[in-house]
Amino acid sequence: MRAPGTSTGTGVTPDTGDAELGTPRATGSPDSEGASSPGAAEDLLAGYRAPAVRHLLSVADLGRDGILEIMRLSDAFAEVAERPIPKVPALRGRTVATVFMEPSTRTRLSFETAAKRLSADVMTFTVATSASVKGESLRDTVETIDAMGIDAMVIRHHASGAPLRVTDWVGASVINAGDGTHEHPTQALLDCYTIREALTARRDGEVPADLRGLRIAIVGDIKHSRVARSDVLAFAALGAEVVLVAPPTLLPASLEGWPVSATGDLDSTIGDLDVIYLLRIQSERLGEVLLPSLDEYHWRYGLTRARADALKPDALIMHPGPMIRGVEISPEVADMPASLVTRQVRNGVVVRMAVLFHLLGSGVM
Ligand code: MLT
Repeated sequence: MRAPGTSTGTGVTPDTGDAELGTPRATGSPDSEGASSPGAAEDLLAGYRAPAVRHLLSVADLGRDGILEIMRLSDAFAEVAERPIPKVPALRGRTVATVFMEPSTRTRLSFETAAKRLSADVMTFTVATSASVKGESLRDTVETIDAMGIDAMVIRHHASGAPLRVTDWVGASVINAGDGTHEHPTQALLDCYTIREALTARRDGEVPADLRGLRIAIVGDIKHSRVARSDVLAFAALGAEVVLVAPPTLLPASLEGWPVSATGDLDSTIGDLDVIYLLRIQSERLGEVLLPSLDEYHWRYGLTRARADALKPDALIMHPGPMIRGVEISPEVADMPASLVTRQVRNGVVVRMAVLFHLLGSGVM
């Protein structure tokens, strides 16, 4: 276990995250460990000062300034992603453990790819092949992994608040990769980045300051969605107007304090949207019958071809995945050019590189 403060931005080191990032070498040629040599990304990252943030449990840990900082770092790593060898030595010698207690395709692979592209070592915990199936507690499991000497633990758990408990038990930085119905902060960050990227392309390369002026609908199972909670915080922090669209049974009991409006009528609002963000019905979390049928849900809330035709011509279609085609989105709409779903996945890697660098990068080397 690394001592708290040595592995993160706590006790901020007022200098670059990685001395090698600022060392001039020919761009794109691999070093002895296969990492690319410095280029424009290194210029952006040179002199990077990590803020006093040690863990990422909620979008609220970053706030507006922190979100914008992650966007700026993501731009640098997006440039790295375009190189023939999309790898930099920024976190060489660091170890990132992924601890997923719930199924995942995108988030786990994306974090592991991000860590490898920063030259960190990666340790993968898979519940089915672990001592958890013999009854080992979460605390014993994470203390065991931490004792092997890790710098960051990326954790997904079915219980809301589990990552927060884990911060009491480990010395590593803890990153919430989705906890129950609570939050999924890196999903929200990659969503903001993907919208910002689409706006930038539309404005001939001029990067928008934030998401002000956009009307974003989040549609579907808001009640059980950690993605919805993180997205609401992030979109609102960047100035977007957020409307939740769902049947009353799939809205939280109270929206007090949420910076949103809500409606049950998708068709009355669809023509005003700049972004429509669809959610999967979280069947594994329903616990009771909240919908007459999935067919009826599709008929009232699914993004059908007819509804897609009612969107503004430049409206963006988003989904965190996994998509259930024929329920929240029809198959042909999922594959339309306006659908940013694969762009979200692609951006997930660079945004998670930014998050890992933000938490671990300061004082490296
Ligand atoms: C999540 O883990 O929350 C996913 O990204 C969204 C989903 O499972 O529907």
